[in-house]
Amino acid sequence: MIGSNGQQGDRFDQNAVRIEPWGQGDLPLLKKLLGDPAMTEHLGGPETDEQLVKRQARYEDTGRDRMFKIVLEATGEAIGSVGYWERTWRGEQVYEMGWSVLPAFQGRGIAGAATAQALSRARLDGLHRFVHAFPSVDNPPSNAICRKLGFTLVEECEFEYPKGSFMRCNDWRFDLSVGS
Ligand SMILES: CC(C)(COP(=O)(O)OP(=O)(O)OC[C@H]1O[C@@H](n2cnc3c(N)ncnc32)[C@H](O)[C@@H]1OP(=O)(O)O)[C@@H](O)C(=O)NCCC(=O)NCCS
Repeated sequence: MIGSNGQQGDRFDQNAVRIEPWGQGDLPLLKKLLGDPAMTEHLGGPETDEQLVKRQARYEDTGRDRMFKIVLEATGEAIGSVGYWERTWRGEQVYEMGWSVLPAFQGRGIAGAATAQALSRARLDGLHRFVHAFPSVDNPPSNAICRKLGFTLVEECEFEYPKGSFMRCNDWRFDLSVGS
């Protein structure tokens, strides 16, 4: 099991992670996550260098939105991202959430652990009751994360991402007012 402090009895968990606010030096990580064709297969394809530089500036100055890098406790290495941002969905103000983990670190429960931490932060912010995630219907690991963390599947829908391009997604909703 992954603990927030990375400890499990005497054994240090090699897959333990923490989330840290996105920082000024994190453009190289962003390029690995969103500038890569395999990583963006379900996200409309890789962004250009220009788009990534603009996105880096947005991540550094997020206002009420929150972007985090996922850091491996054992080495301090940044290996992914998770975050939430405000949007209007079906006439309601909600958070949308997204996550990414570099290929070498996938399949170890890391995205799930980091997303659970991000949900706790969103609950502490206390601004919105619902968090939505919109994984492509063709993205089984991402849908599995929603299922295992207790999101409720609302419906399958057409979702616009990136702007001007529509894909078939599942609308998953997490209720921050339930549990703690
Ligand atoms: C989606 C992504 C973040 C998952 O990262 P990860 O660290 O491997 O995720 P986790 O290990 O925490 O969980 C993945 C879950 O998917 C499950 N899974 C993996 N492949 C699966 C498949 N083909 N069918 C069903 N479930 C699958 C795993 O069993 C695991 O669930 P479990 O912990 O209950 O066993 C990673 O694949 C990624 O970065 N993809 C590219 C970016 C992306 O698509 N982001 C999502 C945008 S919505």
